[in-house]
Amino acid sequence: MLASSSNTASSVNTASVWRGKGLWGAVVVVFATLLAPVVAAVLVYHLDSFDPSPIPLQELSSVAPVAASMVNDHMLEGAEFLGKGQLEGPEDIAYDAKSQVIYTGCRDGWIKRVTVNESSAEAQVQNFVNTGGSPLGLVFGHNNELIVADASKGLLNISEGGAVELLTDGAEDLKFKLTDAVDVAEDGIIYFTDASYKYDVHHAVWDFLEGRPYGRLCSYNPVTKETKVLVRDLYFANGVAVSPDQNYVILCETPRRRCRKINIQGEKKGEIETFVDDLPGYPDNIHYDGEGHYWIAFPWGIAKGWEMAYRYPFIRKIRALLVKYVGRPNMEKNAGVFVVDLEGKPVAHYYEPELSMITSGIKIQNYLYCGSIKYQFIIRNNLDQYPAHHSSYK
Ligand SMILES: *[C@@H]1O[C@H](CO)[C@@H](O)[C@H](O)[C@H]1NC(C)=O
Ligand SMILES: *[C@@H]1O[C@H](CO)[C@@H](O)[C@H](O)[C@H]1NC(C)=O
Repeated sequence: MLASSSNTASSVNTASVWRGKGLWGAVVVVFATLLAPVVAAVLVYHLDSFDPSPIPLQELSSVAPVAASMVNDHMLEGAEFLGKGQLEGPEDIAYDAKSQVIYTGCRDGWIKRVTVNESSAEAQVQNFVNTGGSPLGLVFGHNNELIVADASKGLLNISEGGAVELLTDGAEDLKFKLTDAVDVAEDGIIYFTDASYKYDVHHAVWDFLEGRPYGRLCSYNPVTKETKVLVRDLYFANGVAVSPDQNYVILCETPRRRCRKINIQGEKKGEIETFVDDLPGYPDNIHYDGEGHYWIAFPWGIAKGWEMAYRYPFIRKIRALLVKYVGRPNMEKNAGVFVVDLEGKPVAHYYEPELSMITSGIKIQNYLYCGSIKYQFIIRNNLDQYPAHHSSYK
């Protein structure tokens, strides 16, 4: 009744009330949409127990990297793709010069034999052995055996006939979690890395995000069957290569963008020296070519995002939360191979903006062969036809 008697007035009032509510509604909606996620994010940030560590300043690499005078910044030009579709993330490469066969370890546990036809990009791929784990680094031993750093199994010996034997899977009462790379010295001692005793191969990014040095360099003596820890507290201990004079081991610490020299003979035995710092990428496997050069694979070139993250733990925490709740963005670029001489001086840099996750580079005759944990092939570059050129980049 009242309503009908003051119909006009009430509808005017209702309209103005609703106009007011509309404003408040909008404010609430804006707050809810903008603030709620912020509040939720802050809560998640504080409640999540992941605790990245500050990285000591002296451990951080410089933003101004070293540079090589010879550069090929489009290494995909003229590249060939070997074993396309038959190799699931061929991480590392070992070459058997006698049979001229390439061996590579894949993500599906298979170690494959790749026979390359010199005059074409055709390659025959055969299954050799499945380790049931994640074979990463490979090297031939002195008895034609293949020694494998299997991320989930440990250090393996695979005989010529394909028999698999576990050599070691831990040291000093601490199991390996991510056995990563391996090389063998002339005296038969095997040098290898456990990139992290905390995170396995599927969670390697967490090691980078946490920023604590869980890596170790170890040796295994096949005569005494003893495993020794040579260096501990390494940041994601990755590639290893015994120097041609057998005096030291070069070791790559991926997130620190550096390779170090660990003396294994002579007066300086046990001493750790700088080999090369401030690399223009994050070093993975390293291979000596028998001709005075080490070939260091970069899964990605310098990434400003990662460099900032290494400086500020809270950025790593935010990244960790994104990885955990949203997924991992694929931001890695400029993968390739960096060549240094016996003193660690830069010589050449092969890369390609579009490439990521190149994990090994090895020179065989006049070709560069690259393995990758991501692609389904081995990349081959003819170094005579597509060489690195003198570059003005400094
Ligand atoms: C290698 O490739 C070339 C060119 O395709 C072919 O003529 C030759 O028969 C191949 N050789 C072998 C051993 O497969
Ligand atoms: C690997 O096994 C083979 C075959 O049993 C053996 O001849 C070789 O010495 C072993 N290598 C190592 C490093 O234990």
